[in-house]
Amino acid sequence: MHIQQLTLHNFRNYLRESLQLDPGLNIFVGDNAQGKTNLLEAIYVLSLSKSYRTTRETELIQQGVGAARAIVTAEVVRLAALDLAVVVSHTDTKRLLVNQKSTTANSFLGRLNTVLFIPDSLQLVKGSPGDRRRFLDVQICQIDPIYRTTLLKYQRVVRQRNSLLKDAWENRSQLSQLPAWDNQLVSLGKAIMLRRQEVVHILQRFSKSAHEKISDEQEELQLIYAPFFEVADSSSQDTNYAAEELEQILWAQLKALRSEEIRRGYTLVGPQRDDLVFLINAYDLKKFGSQGQQRTAVLAYILAELELMHQETGEYPVVLLDDVMSELDRKRQMYLLSILNEKAQTIVTTTSLDSFTPETKKQATVFRIEQGRILA
Ligand SMILES: Nc1ncnc2c1ncn2[C@@H]1O[C@H](COP(=O)(O)OP(=O)(O)OP(=O)(O)O)[C@@H](O)[C@H]1O
Ligand SMILES: [Mg+2]
Repeated sequence: MHIQQLTLHNFRNYLRESLQLDPGLNIFVGDNAQGKTNLLEAIYVLSLSKSYRTTRETELIQQGVGAARAIVTAEVVRLAALDLAVVVSHTDTKRLLVNQKSTTANSFLGRLNTVLFIPDSLQLVKGSPGDRRRFLDVQICQIDPIYRTTLLKYQRVVRQRNSLLKDAWENRSQLSQLPAWDNQLVSLGKAIMLRRQEVVHILQRFSKSAHEKISDEQEELQLIYAPFFEVADSSSQDTNYAAEELEQILWAQLKALRSEEIRRGYTLVGPQRDDLVFLINAYDLKKFGSQGQQRTAVLAYILAELELMHQETGEYPVVLLDDVMSELDRKRQMYLLSILNEKAQTIVTTTSLDSFTPETKKQATVFRIEQGRILA
């Protein structure tokens, strides 16, 4: 799939811009603070219905010009053509439109699929388990609306259960409500874990082979799903749990940790404590990997996401790369762009075209960004 036309209206520092994108490689060059990340953010919003940079959505509306709302739209070409729009307003609730008709977030997601690679993506390896779960969930939600609904329901169950456990400090009788929440925790939690396990297996296969190529087969990357009841380190095993097994484990864990949960006042059991483990030649990349090794692993993971989405939807997503080229050595850059060039529409930002090889520049459509204006 690819974006044919993109329009920004009072979005961040863009007053009104409309541009045609190439189905292949698009490079946006500009100095700092000109609007490069803002542009990628707009595309991301059209894909996920919300930003990865802020949870306060009115920040997306252009300031200082008295704008009432920000509007981003895209013409997306896939098997069927699609018009997408997101409207964020100071006064009304956000609107998501597909072919000019308002729709829910659940049916909006998955229309335009994206994979995002930014300097901060290194947190996938270096960051917290929560960072890793977010990476995984963002990708699964794009390809599986049922997963998204289940996840939202599950998060509500954990919140309710937490407040109940906390209230139980003052009022023990509250605990009589726990079994009802436990039932939901087990059935929803199990569904989430099964889907994560399945997706990580697919990502594992693709990231391993991408990594082999990038590292000239010197190193082996292994991606492992570490469910909450297992230790997440280099001793992690690549296991494959059946649904009934997970259900039994969830119940057993609830039983074993009951008094601990009551003592601490929050939920200790369930996929809200899952993690992912990256191993390079069987050692833990988070603890022992060099910066370059970690970056290579993230790159391999991003390429695996691309293949995951292709496998699940039949089409490659749009790839958004914010300012990451200068961090990759020439070989990795060439490898990345050669793969993307064959497969996916790619939108790259940079402060300097010098970080691209002449061949890459020849193949690309280059735009300049200056103070919220896009010049072809
Ligand atoms: N809601 C808004 N209204 C107006 N301007 C905004 C708004 N939000 C951000 N900006 C402006 O957008 C500019 C930054 O844009 P952006 O983050 O896209 O820069 P960039 O080109 O990616 O720069 P860098 O190379 O430093 O990453 C800043 O000047 C910022 O003040
Ligand atoms: Mg930027």
